[in-house]
Amino acid sequence: MLGRYTTGPRQDCEAYQRGYDPTMGYGADAAARSGGVGRIDLRSDTVTHPTPAMRAAMSTAELGDDVFNDDPTVIALEARAAALLGKEAGLFVASGTMGNIVSVMAHVPRGGEIIVPAEGHIPNDEAANYAVAAGAGLRIVHENSDGEMPIDAVLEAIQDSSDPHSAITSLAVVENCHAHTFSRPITPTYMRALRAALQPRGIPIHVDGARLFNAVVALGVTPRELVAEADSATFCLSKGLAAPIGSVVVGSSDFIWKARRARKLLGGGMRQVGVLAAAGLVALSDGPDGTVARLAEDHANARMLAEGLAGMSGVLSPGYIAQPVGELLDPARVATNFVLFKVAGGADRRARFLGELEQRGVLMVAYPHGQIRAVTHYGITAAEITATLAAAAAALHATA
Ligand SMILES: Cc1ncc(COP(=O)(O)O)c(C=O)c1O
Repeated sequence: MLGRYTTGPRQDCEAYQRGYDPTMGYGADAAARSGGVGRIDLRSDTVTHPTPAMRAAMSTAELGDDVFNDDPTVIALEARAAALLGKEAGLFVASGTMGNIVSVMAHVPRGGEIIVPAEGHIPNDEAANYAVAAGAGLRIVHENSDGEMPIDAVLEAIQDSSDPHSAITSLAVVENCHAHTFSRPITPTYMRALRAALQPRGIPIHVDGARLFNAVVALGVTPRELVAEADSATFCLSKGLAAPIGSVVVGSSDFIWKARRARKLLGGGMRQVGVLAAAGLVALSDGPDGTVARLAEDHANARMLAEGLAGMSGVLSPGYIAQPVGELLDPARVATNFVLFKVAGGADRRARFLGELEQRGVLMVAYPHGQIRAVTHYGITAAEITATLAAAAAALHATA
């Protein structure tokens, strides 16, 4: 059986989630592949290393014991995130996955049900944590090519809580950006419509905003505006924002208290973790060291990559909800830092193409629905996009 992110047999191993291919290997050379000199690593924006300003801040961070709630750097990061997103409180967590599961545990009672987009991270890529840790079920709604679950389908997905047969609908999740739609940003307009539909029914909204700041930059809105209609949101510091580790969850003080309890239950209470929060504070800072505004450069590089790829024979549309219309890759689908495409010739050629690329020092990954994913990020320059395009042309030629 094939895994969602693999071209090889699925294994119970986290490494497989990120594009393992048995013909390419993953283990011994993994370090070289993620940080290796001369590599152009487009597998994900998670491969970013901290900026010099982050490393400096980490080495001098004022620390405490965050489980006693007295690490000043963590407290400052949580306050900064809450203020930026317009919520009462924040909680620093180890990862985007932990941000989502503590949010689910805070919102959803055991046996409750969560409305999720079919291609979202929560239903597909979090090892069924909603079932295992929260005792919750999912109700899948098929999203459109902008990542939005149609409002009428969301309303239809709500269970009748007066019927003892039914689970109680307790949460709806929006993924912003939505990774499988070319990482397109979801707008405040959609959020307002979803809120108007759900608020009268007492159903809260959680935003899985692993790449929320990419959406903020692409849409030209404030983070506060983008999550104004959400009861909770989580965003990752360790993706495009370039911090090494961590995510922040925000919401009401009462919600964050419950999420903090859930984090402890999951073993996510950390001690002198201001060492990590310091990098996050740099990422969210307003000055030249902040890494939010520079995301525009990643978006421009992704567009440049897609435009170059689109002109190459053998490069096709990624299809499915990433690009439902047209046979050829449409660079206009790029809104943030993802480029999704297919190569003609199916799974076998895809594996050979990725292998040829790797031999030329460029890393991309196999993605679901026969796609290939390339993600731009801090550390990738326009010159490296030019080099990537030359490598892609050569890899297509070698596998034709
Ligand atoms: C949309 C989305 N949500 C959540 C996550 C989980 O983040 P983490 O890998 O930090 O657990 C990811 C990771 O890629 C993601 O893309």
